[in-house]
Amino acid sequence: MSNDKIIIAIDGYSSSGKSSMARALAAAIGYRYVDSGAMYRAVTLWGMNHGMVADGAVDTESLIEALPDITIDFMPIPGEGQHTMLNGEDVELEIRSLKVSDNVSQVAVIPAVRHHLVELQQRFGREKGIVMDGRDIGTTVFPEAEMKIFVDASAETRAKRRFLELQEKGIEASYDDVLANVKQRDHIDTTRAESPLVKAADAVSLDNSDMTIAEQNAWLIDMYRRTLDAHGMKA
Ligand code: CDP
Repeated sequence: MSNDKIIIAIDGYSSSGKSSMARALAAAIGYRYVDSGAMYRAVTLWGMNHGMVADGAVDTESLIEALPDITIDFMPIPGEGQHTMLNGEDVELEIRSLKVSDNVSQVAVIPAVRHHLVELQQRFGREKGIVMDGRDIGTTVFPEAEMKIFVDASAETRAKRRFLELQEKGIEASYDDVLANVKQRDHIDTTRAESPLVKAADAVSLDNSDMTIAEQNAWLIDMYRRTLDAHGMKA
């Protein structure tokens, strides 16, 4: 058989570089990339804009009622990957702000929000040939994924990376605030009742604290080839 497609799940802690590695892998092997975190961020932004989410507090009932009115999609932008679209509006830059980061984990604990987004995510994966990154992809969204990676790095390394990333995008934030946010989201994400952040039993761990982007990408491509081999599939 040729052109066999698989599902690749990349999970891990906040700012561990999951999104960049998932995006690079998808581009290298011609797969679709879906950033599940962007979907939680988009719902959070919608809630903030409609007075239902502020300062870490969420009007859960109203937000759940509004879920059918919230449309999320991804638009490919030549040379730039893809942008997150919220009800037809490009919100890619806005959803990355520290303001959204400070509220997103509180929105992501709500089971009805998770069920709604997991269903959308599963629809994206129906045709396989997809790389998705998040917190619960290998455990809840695609427990049957052929390749599962769990990424980690120290909180300080992750905060440093996110701080530089925000600076490059021209989004204002202090390193201390970014570090505090990383630690707070780690705590909320790992201790929530509904699909907490946990390594799937069959996921392969990757600590990329001391890896360059090139080393990381080579590691992933190698893992992808070995996964196809293990399943008797061809690229
Ligand atoms: O990129 P970063 O690590 O900052 O986070 P993200 O992937 O954009 O996700 C933002 C937040 O959404 C996380 O801190 C989680 O609270 C939530 N999330 C989740 O609960 N489940 C997912 N599959 C993806 C994100």
